[in-house]
Amino acid sequence: MGGSLEAIRYKREGGHATLHLLEQRKLPLETEWLDIPGPKAAWTAIRDMTVRGAPAIAIAAALSLAVDLVNGGSGAQFADAGAAAAYITEQLDYLVTSRPTAVNLSIAAEALKSLAAAQAGEAGASAAGVAGAVVEACEEMLREDVAANKAMGAHGAAALLAAAQARGRAADGRLRVLTHCNTGSLATAAYGTALGVIRALHEQGRLEHAYCCETRPYNQGARLTAYELAHDGLPSTLICDSAAAALMAAGKVDAVVVGADRIAANGDTANKIGTFCHAVAAHHHDVPFFVAAPTTTIDPQLDHGGLIPIEERSPEEITHFKGQRVAAEIGVWNPSFDVTPATLIEAIITERGLVAKASASGTGFAIRSWLTE
Ligand code: MRU
Repeated sequence: MGGSLEAIRYKREGGHATLHLLEQRKLPLETEWLDIPGPKAAWTAIRDMTVRGAPAIAIAAALSLAVDLVNGGSGAQFADAGAAAAYITEQLDYLVTSRPTAVNLSIAAEALKSLAAAQAGEAGASAAGVAGAVVEACEEMLREDVAANKAMGAHGAAALLAAAQARGRAADGRLRVLTHCNTGSLATAAYGTALGVIRALHEQGRLEHAYCCETRPYNQGARLTAYELAHDGLPSTLICDSAAAALMAAGKVDAVVVGADRIAANGDTANKIGTFCHAVAAHHHDVPFFVAAPTTTIDPQLDHGGLIPIEERSPEEITHFKGQRVAAEIGVWNPSFDVTPATLIEAIITERGLVAKASASGTGFAIRSWLTE
């Protein structure tokens, strides 16, 4: 299979912009691209999982606003700069309501709203100037995300190897790594976060094997991560989520690396449901457990993970398969994410390096002070 995978295609040319999102619900069986003319279509695409993964959600939402602003005439439709900033704020506030757990979109929305307000407050500000600055900031998110993922890959590859070897694993410098959900090119602008670390290990000749968990109930692992691993030709195996502890007990996992949807100030991490189980199993087997995420996934406002809003999705994700009921008639609880306590996390890998620990020897992270360093 050739070419690199992508989930988001954005183009601006001659005063017109387009945004297309890969219809991830049909992968790996069909490749279809959806045209996203503005925030309303993006909101639906995010809520219905056409696009998913914390960074990709934020980028797709921001670019839908960019498309709307560019095709609306670069601000010409607004009476003045204040009206442009008010419209931008309204659209971003709406987009943020699409899904609650991943924080990247909220953080991006706050930054874009501040930018619009600041531009509108400048002497001689124009509507076109406000819209143009916001469009450029949205477009920059695509480029920044790829650079952040590459940096995370480099930091993460070194950290995983060092932690595994400190425990007497991977003596030959090659790692067997387990991951959960999809954190690759399909969940980001490209390359990926946790899957980016696995890609970096592979590029360095240090990946012996990648294990991806199925990731029930939405099967992001079986449908998307397996697709990415096969596409790139990485040595890999798909397992049921419930096989992870047995795989560790068999001595076949040197490190676990997962992504994140929101990281609280103490390092507690919300990620796809099932992540916490892997962290507990890894702790039991003395396998180092890593989180890889850009700093835009950190929510320094929340003291701990108990404050992270956890999305609950439709019961049909569990009771049905391809529209057909497969479960008996019974009540369902379907949280889309769980929170892994910081105490189970070896390190948090970001584009700026590893987040500082709360104390040199202990567990927990000093995220607030680290962010302002
Ligand atoms: O429900 P999803 O598919 O949006 O959940 C995605 C995850 O939980 C990912 O692990 C996380 O967003 C990190 S993506 C780089």
